[in-house]
Amino acid sequence: MGPVISRQVDELNAFAQAKLDKLHAKDLKRGLIPTSRGVGGAIVRDGIPAISFCDNDYLGLSQNTRVVAAAGAAAIRYGAGAGASRLVSGDSPLNHELETLLAKMKGLEACRVFGSGYMANLGAIPCLVGKSDVVVMDELSHACMRAGAQLSGAEIRTFKHNDVEDARQKLHNISADSRILLMTETVFSMDGDLAPLKELQALCEEYGAWLMTDDAHGFGVIKQNNPALIQMGTLSKAVGVYGGYVCGPAAFIELMISRARTFVFTTGLPPQVLGAALEAVNIINEDTHLAKNVMAKTTAFTDALGLPKPTSTIVPILLGEASIALKVQAKLLEDGFHVSAIRPPTVPDGSSRLRIAFSASHELDDVLALANSLKKHLPKDVLNI
Ligand SMILES: Cc1ncc(COP(=O)(O)O)c(C=O)c1O
Repeated sequence: MGPVISRQVDELNAFAQAKLDKLHAKDLKRGLIPTSRGVGGAIVRDGIPAISFCDNDYLGLSQNTRVVAAAGAAAIRYGAGAGASRLVSGDSPLNHELETLLAKMKGLEACRVFGSGYMANLGAIPCLVGKSDVVVMDELSHACMRAGAQLSGAEIRTFKHNDVEDARQKLHNISADSRILLMTETVFSMDGDLAPLKELQALCEEYGAWLMTDDAHGFGVIKQNNPALIQMGTLSKAVGVYGGYVCGPAAFIELMISRARTFVFTTGLPPQVLGAALEAVNIINEDTHLAKNVMAKTTAFTDALGLPKPTSTIVPILLGEASIALKVQAKLLEDGFHVSAIRPPTVPDGSSRLRIAFSASHELDDVLALANSLKKHLPKDVLNI
């Protein structure tokens, strides 16, 4: 390494280290721990075995034998990688099977599969609105919806979480020439509560806006009557694999082939990912038993702690300061449970929490043992117990 490069390496390291030190001082520095996953939430993290209660694998499909076999079969038939973007020669026929199935399940005209849910939002939103338009979105919408809105150049207005009246206020004073996109999650990722979709659609009809929903945490688990014109989601949570999709009117879905930058300028998903996702979506389509199973386990947990009935598979326990959330996380791990503390910027300042998520593959005994461990380790005022 030459002396100039070597000096630049030192400068960049000093720059990054100063930022890391600041994050560390605020308990906001993140780290990676190699984790092997198995059935029933079983994990080994850095050599330590535990049962994980923070995965998004709500139906346990990432470990399902049919899904794993489909991944292997697709790789053997089509190879390990797509080889190119879908527009060039990487458009595996599995994409089209998956898109047809997803559009049918959503009851919408067409569907496009993307590389991930993040990429789906980043690609789709700038195809819907631009500089002279307005995005009105729930304040707790996922970072990738916000990133997509920013990339579009549209004016962004956020409304208070699930507050339809505030959303109405945000729809005032918009030029008649502007398109308006109203966005929300169906099931909120960090709170587990549901959006008032019917009321938001009524607002959209009144103000001439398009409703777009992010169903990342609902698909396969929570069946809502969703009136949204554009519905995106991910193949990485209940589906248990990887990838994202956008469903909606056929011409819009066609337009994204030419205009969605995260579709055009990236390689297609690998065949084994598509084969596994297709099998998992087929299982979800055929079998409602898994969704009932995970909701029964979530309810057993909230009942054991005297919490309100769950609205989804996600149960947040608010702790406030990041340091408290980290402390409880460490105590739970001593009892054999992994529940990751969620801290800003993933959640607003002062609302660090344990985000407990359940899977159909969890054993009921483990669910109840986690409830007992929490009773021991949560600060006394949190559950009023
Ligand atoms: C609400 C929501 N939307 C989108 C995404 C992104 O999905 P993916 O993990 O497939 O990129 C996530 C994942 O964290 C999410 O929680």
